[in-house]
Amino acid sequence: MIKRKLVKFAFASYIMLTLYFLWGWNAENTTRETSKEMSETIKIDELHLDTVSTTAPKKPPLILYWGKAWGINGPDEGSLMDGCTLTYNRSKISDAIAVVFHFTMINKNQIPWQHYRDKKQIFVWWCGEGPGYFGKDGLREFDGGFFNWTWTFKRSADVLRYYGSRKEALTFVKKGKRAIDDLWGVTRCSGTNGAIKRMEYYKALVTAGLSITTFGGCFPDVENIPKQYPMLFEPKWREHKFYLAFENAIHCRDYITEKFWDNALKNDMVPVVWGPTKDDVLSVAPLNSFIHTDDFDSPAKLAEYLQFLDKNDDEYRKYFRWREDETMTDKKMIRMTQERYPDLNIELTPKSLCARLLENKETKIIPSVTDEFITSETPECLS
Ligand SMILES: *[C@@H]1O[C@H](CO)[C@@H](O)[C@H](O)[C@H]1NC(C)=O
Ligand SMILES: *[C@@H]1O[C@H](CO)[C@@H](O)[C@H](O)[C@H]1NC(C)=O
Repeated sequence: MIKRKLVKFAFASYIMLTLYFLWGWNAENTTRETSKEMSETIKIDELHLDTVSTTAPKKPPLILYWGKAWGINGPDEGSLMDGCTLTYNRSKISDAIAVVFHFTMINKNQIPWQHYRDKKQIFVWWCGEGPGYFGKDGLREFDGGFFNWTWTFKRSADVLRYYGSRKEALTFVKKGKRAIDDLWGVTRCSGTNGAIKRMEYYKALVTAGLSITTFGGCFPDVENIPKQYPMLFEPKWREHKFYLAFENAIHCRDYITEKFWDNALKNDMVPVVWGPTKDDVLSVAPLNSFIHTDDFDSPAKLAEYLQFLDKNDDEYRKYFRWREDETMTDKKMIRMTQERYPDLNIELTPKSLCARLLENKETKIIPSVTDEFITSETPECLS
């Protein structure tokens, strides 16, 4: 009797689980609303950071992406990332060495997990936004030991997913001459909370007499931010000497985005950095490639310095030496930074997700994404 009940129970459970599984499988992923700036950030994050190559070893290990970031941005099905193949086909989950979840592609309803889980598989939490984007409790639904690794711009992440690197910068910057022009710099602004302070700084620079070309959403009657990738500006913008690489958050660890790498460096402008700490920038960027606002007592002092550079070309061009030196390498840049800042924790060229997965032998569980990604931040970052 009991046996029969048990069998019935087991059978019913099996049916229910199967249904649940199938339903969950096809459940639509919720894509959060993206602000203009967010979607731009993501576009870069997506297309730019995976090293996609075209030559394949035999049967490369599989990484399953649980959907594209924001539902729209991601490398193509079947593309290769440093020797791993990438798929979005969830039916292949049992073949994957890792499952990558962009934070927009998983939600409360799917955690705890109703799908397949192999303990050997690494579940990766992927995020390109700053902590301020989520607020103090915005990531609670991801807590609870669901993820094994984080994949973010933070150097403390299990795998660093950077917006740019010294090594890469050397390959994309133009060596040799660049146009010199007497325009001042470009900035853009967005409607996010952290943007208020940077707007104040920008206004103070204008008050101090700096002429700044502006573009983007919050300046009326100006041109919009270019949508294309790579973000190569029109010649008239590229002629500017400086680019205000102002992030939308203050002192968030390692939050140095495409504003620095792509908008400024790639477009041959000297980044004027506001937001991340100077140490964070120094640890990843080429030495003498940028100007940091923290080095100046006031916006007026910075304005004065930029005006000085505008009039003194030799001084201005010092910010281009790293790229004009034909013998420059990643190693040499690291050595230069080390000599100048012996106590700095310099970030070496990070390994890709695939490389990290292939070498990994450890078990790791992240008890709280909130603690790891948000609570550990500075108060300024979270304000
Ligand atoms: C997904 O993978 C399964 C199993 O390998 C395969 O049968 C199916 O055709 C694939 N679906 C798509 C859309 O490629
Ligand atoms: C990944 O996390 C899960 C869930 O916490 C855990 O059971 C598993 O052992 C972890 N696997 C690895 C390889 O770290």
